This record gives sequence, C-alpha cells and structure tokens, in this order.
Amino acid sequence: MKRWGKRLAIGLGVLLGLGAIALGITVAISHSLQGETYVLALDELQVPTDPAALAEGERLYASRGCAECHGADGSGAVIMDGPPARVAGSNLTRLGADYDTVAFDAAVRHGVGTDGRPLIFMPAHEYYVALSDADVAKIFAHVRSLPEVAEPAVPSEVRLLGRVLHVTGAMHMFPAELIDHEAPHPDAIEPAPTAAYGERLAAACTGCHGEGFSGGPIPGAPPELGTPKNLTPHASGLAEWDRDDFFVAMRDGRSRDGAAMNAEQMPYPVFARMTDVELDALWSYLQDVPPRPFGER
Ligand code: HEC
Ligand code: HEC
Repeated sequence: MKRWGKRLAIGLGVLLGLGAIALGITVAISHSLQGETYVLALDELQVPTDPAALAEGERLYASRGCAECHGADGSGAVIMDGPPARVAGSNLTRLGADYDTVAFDAAVRHGVGTDGRPLIFMPAHEYYVALSDADVAKIFAHVRSLPEVAEPAVPSEVRLLGRVLHVTGAMHMFPAELIDHEAPHPDAIEPAPTAAYGERLAAACTGCHGEGFSGGPIPGAPPELGTPKNLTPHASGLAEWDRDDFFVAMRDGRSRDGAAMNAEQMPYPVFARMTDVELDALWSYLQDVPPRPFGER
C-alpha cells in the first residue's frame, strides 16, 4: 500500500512536472501570438448618408449578430466571463472622432484593433466572407448614428485555460489568425436567392453548426450553449425539410416537429431579421452541401 502510494506520488510528480513545462510553453506561444501585430493596407469605404442605407445598416447590424455582442444601442455587452476568458463586445458609441472606415473594416473583417493587435473573439473570419464593402459601409453609417452611451469600458482578456484551449486548437481566441490579410476581399455577390450568395451568409452558421454543417457539441464550449443540429440534407439532418419548415425555424424558432428552440442557444431572433431573399439563399445553399451524419462538425 505504502509502496504503491509512493510510486503514485512519484508518477504524479513527473506528470505535474511535464504538465507544467507543457503549460509554460503553451502560455509562452500564446503570449507571443497575441503580441503579434498586423499591418493592413485597407481602402477607405464610401459611407452612405441616405435614410434607406441607414435603415439597411441597422438591419444588417441586427441580422448579422453585431447587436448580440455589442448591444442594440451599441453600448457593448459582456458575453462570457469564465475560466477561459472574459469576452466583452466593445462600446461602439465611443469609438472617437478619428475612428474611420479603415479602422472599422480592420476590426470587422480582419479582427485587428487600432493598435494592430488581434481582437479577442470578434468573429471577423466570418464577416470577411459574409460582408461586402457596401455592407460594412452601411453598418458603419448606422453605428456612427448611434447616440453615445457612457458605459465604462470592460476589457476582454484571454485567461490561462483560454490560452491552453487556443494553442491546442480547441477554441479560437484570435480570429485574425484565420484570415489571409494579404488577399483581396472576396468579390461582392449581389443579394439573390442563390446558393452562391447563401454560401457567404452561411459563414455565420459555421461557428456553431460546424464547417461541414453537421452539428454536434461545439468544441470548448460549455454545455449551456446546447447542441447544434445537423443542417445538411442527411437523414439525421434536414433531409425531410422543405423551404417553409426552414423559414419557420429561422423566424419563429420552431423545429419541423413543432418543438420550440432555445433562443439563448440558437439565435433565431437575429436571423428573423434576414430578408426572404437572404433566407432563400441560405436554404438553397444548405440543400447543396454534401449530406453528412450528425456530429461530424
Ligand atoms: C461573438 C461576439 C461578437 C460579435 C457577433 C461581433 N463582435 Fe465586434 N467585438 C467583439 C469583442 C469581444 C470585441 C473586443 C475584442 C477585444 O477587445 O480584443 C469586439 C470589437 C469590435 C470592434 C473594435 C472596437 C474597438 O474599440 O476597437 C468593432 C468596430 C466591432 N467589434 C464591430 C462589430 C460589428 C460591426 C459586428 C457585426 C458585423 C460585430 N462587431 C460583431 C465581439 C463581437
Ligand atoms: C450560437 C450558435 C448558433 C448559431 C450561430 C447558429 N445556430 Fe442554428 N442551432 C443552434 C443550436 C444550439 C440548435 C439546436 C437548438 C435546440 O435544440 O433548441 C440550432 C438549431 C437550428 C435549426 C433547427 C434544426 C432542427 O433539426 O430542429 C436550424 C434550421 C438552424 N439551427 C439553422 C441555422 C442557420 C441557417 C444558421 C446560420 C445562419 C444557424 N443556425 C446559426 C445554434 C446555432
């Protein structure tokens, strides 16, 4: 018993030692990652001033999820404050007079802050694909029209567990790393009920439903985020669904079997602000993706 206990103690000591070294390396790598600065060469965008474009900017701000993390009034929101990180969408009503479309675009489609550092958790890799120059300019116009809200700034920070998850690839903390900053932005696609346009919009679904859209638990996420379903045309997915079923799910949050979805898990109130053209485009694209069994991500 005693000998066993001693061996266990030695074994544990060795393990802890190795663990500490691995952890040290992890923290060092991830510190250096966050320390990396990006120099971007972005063009200024033409900011529209007509009321129709401003209204569309508001709709884009809501339907593309900005309001979820930055608040409908733009004053910011704490989205997560746990062992991996504190993630707080910044107050966009206090960006300062010299914050221009170049700085805005760097944040929105490149995940890079004004100091050149990668922003934490700001899903720029999705917006890089999903938003055109015109979209970004309209959202900028809307954000600039918001009255200032004097909320104190809550800084985002990646904590020890978050660094480990980041370096092991379990959870991406710095979306800037996922973007080819040298490449020109993808060509704008005219909004139309086509699979090509739907593919762009579907970038917003991949963080939860997976790159292959087959759902399953989100890596690194706490269980209260729920289990995203399979959106591919597989028997374990949407094979039996028609367009109307999809519209009801996206607008009213009801599944084909009538079950109500949890809006905290599946953000259908965000997608309810999508136009018919956008939802038709998404539906058209989802029918085209290769069928995959549930949970292959
Ligand atoms: C999943 C949450 C999330 C979503 C969705 C999101 N953001 Fe962010 N955003 C953040 C976080 C968190 C930060 C701050 C990161 C940091 O400080 O490192 C941020 C930072 C920014 C900044 C930089 C602000 C500054 O002070 O430099 C801008 C601009 C911004 N977001 C605009 C947008 C817009 C526009 C959208 C929608 C198209 C959007 N965000 C969607 C989480 C989000
Ligand atoms: C923040 C995570 C998240 C995002 C982003 C997200 N979903 Fe979901 N989705 C979920 C979860 C979780 C469920 C399961 C909800 C439940 O069971 O209550 C779900 C369920 C669904 C369902 C119902 C499927 C069924 O079999 O009942 C559809 C359809 C759907 N999502 C489509 C989409 C589309 C399309 C997008 C992108 C435009 C998207 N979702 C983006 C998390 C998300």
